[in-house]
Amino acid sequence: MRRRRVRMNKIVIIFACLSMLQKMAYAADALTPTSSINDGQELISAGQNFSLGFFTPGISKSRYVGIWYKNIMPQTVVWVANRDYPLNDSSGNLTIVAGNIVLFDGSGNRIWSTNSSRSSIQEPMAKLLDSGNLVLMDGKSSDSDSYIWQSFDYPTDTTLPGLKLGWDKTSGLNRYLTSWKSANDPSAGSFTYGFHHNEITEFVLRQGMKITFRSGIWDGTRLNSDDWIFNEITAFRPIISVTSTEALYWDEPGDRLSRFVMKDDGMLQRYIWDNKVLKWIEMYEARKDFCDDYGACGVNGICNIKDVPVYCDCLKGFKPKSQEEWNSFNRSGGCIRRTPLNCTQGDRFQKLSAIKLPKLLQFWTNNSMNLEECKVECLKNCSCTAYANSAMNEGPHGCFLWFGDLIDIRKLINEEAGQLDLYIKLAASEIESTANAIKRRKIALIISASLVALLLLCIILYLSKKYIKERTTTDLVAGNRNHNEHQASPLFHIDTILAATNNFSTANKIGEGGFGPVYRGKLADGQEIAVKRLSKTSKQGISEFMNEVGLVAKLQHRNLVSILGGCTQGDERMLVYEYMANSSLDHFIFDPTQRKFLNWRKRYEIIMGISRGLLYLHQDSKLTIIHRDLKTSNILLDSELNPKISDFGLAHIFEGDHSTVTTKRIVGTVGYMSPEYAANGLLSLKSDVFSFGVIVLEILSGIRNNNFYHSDHERNLLVQAWRLWKEGRAVEFMDANLDLATIRSELLRCLQVGLLCVQKLPKDRPTMSSVVFMLSNESITLAQPKKPEFIEEGLEFPGYSNNSMTITLLEARN
Ligand SMILES: *[C@@H]1O[C@H](CO)[C@@H](O)[C@H](O)[C@H]1NC(C)=O
Ligand SMILES: *[C@@H]1O[C@H](CO)[C@@H](O)[C@H](O)[C@H]1NC(C)=O
Ligand SMILES: *[C@@H]1O[C@H](CO)[C@@H](O)[C@H](O)[C@H]1NC(C)=O
Ligand SMILES: *[C@@H]1O[C@H](CO)[C@@H](O)[C@H](O)[C@H]1NC(C)=O
Ligand SMILES: *[C@@H]1O[C@H](CO)[C@@H](O)[C@H](O)[C@H]1NC(C)=O
Ligand SMILES: *[C@@H]1O[C@H](CO)[C@@H](O)[C@H](O)[C@H]1NC(C)=O
Ligand SMILES: *[C@@H]1O[C@H](CO)[C@@H](O)[C@H](O)[C@H]1NC(C)=O
Ligand SMILES: *[C@@H]1O[C@H](CO)[C@@H](O)[C@H](O)[C@H]1NC(C)=O
Repeated sequence: MRRRRVRMNKIVIIFACLSMLQKMAYAADALTPTSSINDGQELISAGQNFSLGFFTPGISKSRYVGIWYKNIMPQTVVWVANRDYPLNDSSGNLTIVAGNIVLFDGSGNRIWSTNSSRSSIQEPMAKLLDSGNLVLMDGKSSDSDSYIWQSFDYPTDTTLPGLKLGWDKTSGLNRYLTSWKSANDPSAGSFTYGFHHNEITEFVLRQGMKITFRSGIWDGTRLNSDDWIFNEITAFRPIISVTSTEALYWDEPGDRLSRFVMKDDGMLQRYIWDNKVLKWIEMYEARKDFCDDYGACGVNGICNIKDVPVYCDCLKGFKPKSQEEWNSFNRSGGCIRRTPLNCTQGDRFQKLSAIKLPKLLQFWTNNSMNLEECKVECLKNCSCTAYANSAMNEGPHGCFLWFGDLIDIRKLINEEAGQLDLYIKLAASEIESTANAIKRRKIALIISASLVALLLLCIILYLSKKYIKERTTTDLVAGNRNHNEHQASPLFHIDTILAATNNFSTANKIGEGGFGPVYRGKLADGQEIAVKRLSKTSKQGISEFMNEVGLVAKLQHRNLVSILGGCTQGDERMLVYEYMANSSLDHFIFDPTQRKFLNWRKRYEIIMGISRGLLYLHQDSKLTIIHRDLKTSNILLDSELNPKISDFGLAHIFEGDHSTVTTKRIVGTVGYMSPEYAANGLLSLKSDVFSFGVIVLEILSGIRNNNFYHSDHERNLLVQAWRLWKEGRAVEFMDANLDLATIRSELLRCLQVGLLCVQKLPKDRPTMSSVVFMLSNESITLAQPKKPEFIEEGLEFPGYSNNSMTITLLEARN
């Protein structure tokens, strides 16, 4: 009975929906002067590919007329008619008046309209095509392709296959993309992306009037950039057509839906629809790295993304305009010549290959010259600074001359992409001095090589003598090896421990680590110790335990807590450490009163200490060890506040030359775990580098990164740090207790190093040796960190929300 009623209700609802849908859907794909569509109705293209109708973007309250894919959820809008003239309610209607498509509001005001002035249209008709193009045509005209107006001529932020971007002399149109203001506001944002054509042809991305990216010039066969190469290997075929009357770019329709979007933050993204997973797949991103930022290295600088982490260099024969600014990674001043050009006496040229040519700001071009004529032309004019061929079709030919500073040169990732070589004018003495320098270096190399050979010979002679002498004793030592190792990590008797810790009295308990409680104690000889009592559930066998104790005891560094030994009794295991008077770092930096004791000098020493300790673990000890659980509570402070890394329980030793391992069981602490490790169990030394970066940011700000998996990225400490740094407001990120007036540059440097360490891709993060180097050398230039990003989904940590807690207790070592 009851079930039947439920079913009845369902049927009623379905009927109601159907009739609503019928009312909403407007069967036609075309609009005529006698028809109109209201809010709620749609035009649908003949093949059901696209819909045109009224929509509300995101959390906006306004209504817009737009075009979207009919069968794709969530709604993906590709064009907006009244982007700058929103409707406030659902009273709008779209119709044709006097040969134009017009949008009215409820009171009959014209909100938006096409602006054809053609009057002799017999039967005006607006039709939504399967390509996503809304066209206005004469229904009586036999030429079905002659459109009076088409939405493809007025793109918003998206191009679709068939939409031609660029400049067309016959129609006088220049079609370019303009970003939305935000995801909730389709009105024209500040970014535009257009195909510019003015003797040179290239795409230029601007924010307002400022250029922020350029595609590289069209050389008749391809764009002078990596993107073009990336394009060629993907499924769709971009076409460029440059003639005297047009400079157009479009994609040929492929076998899958694709769109190219300029997002509201100025990023350019290609999407392909995947029918299997029913999702848009991001294909490639133009403007993919730091070196793609326009003028990233300033004038006369060159950007090389493989030159991690510095990226920027001055062109040969140039030096930083201000060494000080350059060192503090401010490249806006760029580089200047070491030696001024001598105009009268023959200057020389330095060839530069596999690069994106500099922006042609002040230039001259002649398409029929050859390279030699081009060079002569450049030598004639004192202010000419470089030349290159201008085209590649029908072989390299033509001539570009640059005058004044050279800007926006990058080394291309794909060398093939740089077909045109650049010849930079330098004073003759500069070329000679480089040649001499190379010669000198060669000679030095030969000398040092022979010295090394000599030295080796001596060593070999010495050793072989020694070997023969000691041979008889060697076997004996080998036989005793195990014994020797155990000596390095003495076993404590349980009675000693019980006496030292007052029978593990609660008064002596000083903390709770991931493995169990930690007690303070005092040995009979007066030495203070900390005893960590491992949880009894630990599956570790005695021999493994001893191995570990032995291993850690071998690690001797002033920034690592030293282990004095171990103790086993029944199924109890204990580790005995030196006692640290000042507990751990988190007690200081996150405590409003305690952190006042840590002035900048002290914090800087702590950061340096941690980095040195970690460097030792990673490469300077005989083993390659990943700590895996670095966090402020594992950084202990001795009586002089020197930092010591502790808690090697999760440490993983790399054997052989494996630099990355995959682990099934992910252990570590939320907030400090690198994204690739947390999500995929990919463990490498760079996971520690990530945790180190988090610690640096916490030390600078005095704030815990406890929103690591918070979906609101802006509230995440790392994103916050990056954003403030990027906006030049880094000072706001720093703990107010720090003296920002006097030590600003050092703080900024630490912040930048921290940000480099928390980059998403492990390969982008520096190694610990670079970190130590960057921190201790004021003079080197640091790279621009990329925005930190996190995995938002697919992460489940059962029951753990407390960020100071290590997630899994012990993992069986393999
Ligand atoms: C929508 O409302 C705003 C503010 O209330 C007003 O300025 C604007 O003219 C209205 N637009 C339309 C189309 O009615
Ligand atoms: C659309 O608006 C026009 C102008 O206000 C009006 O004449 C027409 O009747 C409206 N059509 C519908 C279906 O509301
Ligand atoms: C109407 O013409 C102006 C200038 O010719 C142009 O900027 C505008 O985008 C056009 N509007 C539409 C909807 O075509
Ligand atoms: C319309 O969509 C179908 C299938 O989704 C596709 O095969 C066809 O090429 C599309 N038509 C156009 C003009 O894009
Ligand atoms: C970078 O240097 C320029 C001068 O070359 C200066 O005007 C600018 O303020 C500096 N920027 C920063 C962030 O220090
Ligand atoms: C150019 O070089 C010649 C010979 O080396 C020298 O005499 C002359 O002064 C130089 N001119 C300039 C402008 O440096
Ligand atoms: C271009 O170069 C060719 C060959 O050197 C020359 O004949 C022609 O006059 C040049 N054109 C211009 C505009 O300078
Ligand atoms: C050198 O080139 C610049 C820029 O084209 C031009 O203004 C100047 O007159 C030229 N000078 C000579 C000597 O040809």
